[in-house]
Amino acid sequence: MKKAEDMKRGARGAEDFRGRDVISIHDLTVEDMETVFDLAREMVPIARGEKKSRALEGHIMASLFFEPSTRTRLSFETAMKRLGGEVVGFSDVSSSSVKKGETLADTIRMAEAYADCIVIRHYNEGAARLAARFSSRPVINGGDGAGQHPTQTLLDLFTIREEKGRIDDNHIVLAGDLKYGRTVHSLAFALSLYDVSLHFVSPKGLEMPREVVSEVKNRGVDLREGHDLSRAIGDADVLYVTRIQRERFPDPTEYQKVAGSYRVDMDLLSRAKRDLIIMHPLPRVDEIAPEVDETSFAVYFKQAFNGVPVRMALLHLVLGGGEI
Ligand code: NCD
Repeated sequence: MKKAEDMKRGARGAEDFRGRDVISIHDLTVEDMETVFDLAREMVPIARGEKKSRALEGHIMASLFFEPSTRTRLSFETAMKRLGGEVVGFSDVSSSSVKKGETLADTIRMAEAYADCIVIRHYNEGAARLAARFSSRPVINGGDGAGQHPTQTLLDLFTIREEKGRIDDNHIVLAGDLKYGRTVHSLAFALSLYDVSLHFVSPKGLEMPREVVSEVKNRGVDLREGHDLSRAIGDADVLYVTRIQRERFPDPTEYQKVAGSYRVDMDLLSRAKRDLIIMHPLPRVDEIAPEVDETSFAVYFKQAFNGVPVRMALLHLVLGGGEI
């Protein structure tokens, strides 16, 4: 826990989470993340609808989705509503004034005038950071282009913690499109704060960006890189799979070259540890065979559910909610 202890120095506690932006995973210390996880645990019965709460009554969240989303948007909106809060926003820019040419800055100015916090997903890397400059309300990044997806990382880490008992001491394989996948960028940074070993496995040309690799290495993490999932699977405690991010390829023929180049199926899993867990931020295309869903390895649907309690915790912290 040496690295985690180091990170705790200078960390801010739950009391001053209020009003903060969450744009990059670098905005959070290990202690911040643990604060979110502890609260998320308490939120689980409320997320399941077994317990009622009005902790965010009177608060409004603006949900601005410039890019398609199922889980991130629905789980943020569910999180707010389960805590008695309200939601305004759009999930289709063609129904907003963006269609008329309104700038991001003006859209954000309006959202902050109407709501108490803003969740934004945008196709441009850096858009959430820009949005935060135009808002005095907390801005949460729900994914910015091929940049970052910090709240996905929070639910990913929460899932590892819940399923494996802890994050430390796991050998974690991140597999798939590591170049354009924003979830793996944020996740790699966050995991490097823990005592884990990492293996990045991608098709050729879709390797993890060098700046992520150097930061992870500089933190002293035991890191391997490769292209062959069948060689990496045997040592894995956690296998985190991502889809190829087709929409981010500048040239569609480049996508065709790598499409279908890896697949997690029963044959591959015959080499896996018995207590391996398989995660995926979803949506999946064809990189995990459907028969894997029925095995004890598959935790990706639970992981998607965890988005609700984790986002409830985060919203409660940044908005300074009442008793839960
Ligand atoms: C991811 C995203 O949007 O980055 N989805 C999600 O938020 N769960 C992953 C993806 O689209 O592949």
